[in-house]
Amino acid sequence: MIVLRSPEKTFRKCVKEKRKGRIVGLVPTMGALHEGHISLIRKCGKICDFLVVSIFVNPTQFGPSEDFKSYPRDFKRDRKICEENGVDLVFYPTAENVYPPGFETFVNLEKLPSHLCGLRRPGHFRGVATVVLKLFNIIQPDVAVFGKKDYQQFRIIKKMVRDLNIPVRIIGAETVRTHKGLAVSSRNWYLSEDEIGRAAFLRKALLLGKKLLLKGESPARAKQEMRKMLFRTGGKIDYISVCDRFTLDEIKRFEKECLIALAVKIGKARLIDNIEVRRKL
Ligand code: PAJ
Repeated sequence: MIVLRSPEKTFRKCVKEKRKGRIVGLVPTMGALHEGHISLIRKCGKICDFLVVSIFVNPTQFGPSEDFKSYPRDFKRDRKICEENGVDLVFYPTAENVYPPGFETFVNLEKLPSHLCGLRRPGHFRGVATVVLKLFNIIQPDVAVFGKKDYQQFRIIKKMVRDLNIPVRIIGAETVRTHKGLAVSSRNWYLSEDEIGRAAFLRKALLLGKKLLLKGESPARAKQEMRKMLFRTGGKIDYISVCDRFTLDEIKRFEKECLIALAVKIGKARLIDNIEVRRKL
């Protein structure tokens, strides 16, 4: 496994691999790797010949009062995890490498960011779309894997790729959870034992919402019951949304399929989770 910090060297290496006829796969991450990331790495490894993982805590996607400084970083550990999981190249750039002085070009989507997390995190998806496009340009992947845990991010990347004709296939991976149903996240490290126990109500609320919609209850009623369930986390509910899977627009009536998404602040962590709901015909 090689580790490169320079975008130019990384570009040259990846293009060389592609010229040999190899399929280049990319899993973009911010490090602090956990089971969720590992599942993406393994999934990507199965469909490519040259597996690249990027590790970069991207400053432009953090708001001024967010956890950029305290975000967990442990490159030694991450490197070992990559090595153990068949990664060929780790791209581990410095902030100056990615954003040289005078940097001023950003990618903005018009509508998708003004839903769910985007409402509470202005500029977040502008930072995400920008860095992901840069990673695509540097690594030139044929395929890239994103987790559906960050569903809005997954949709935004898919849309950006379509809108800007970027020649990469985006694959969504299912959310990895603990045995209690809590979505694994780097931010779970901010939680105490007790808070982790209460965070399990996120998944329970999603399953309840799904059950109610499939029973024919309205999205409004489902959200009301989910809210009650989420009170038991002892946290602060940021949003509960029943929305279209593609546009993320709120829906008033459930017909065939939708997404239920939520965000709750428990202790120091803002946790998000979601579930796709489909009526079997
Ligand atoms: P990060 O939070 O490190 O996540 C990297 C990838 O891992 C994302 O695609 C995310 O959806 C996925 N992931 C996280 N937890 C997961 C879980 N429990 N199950 C399955 N997949 C999971 O998302 C980012 O970094 C950044 O925004 C990034 C795309 C790297 C751009 O900076």
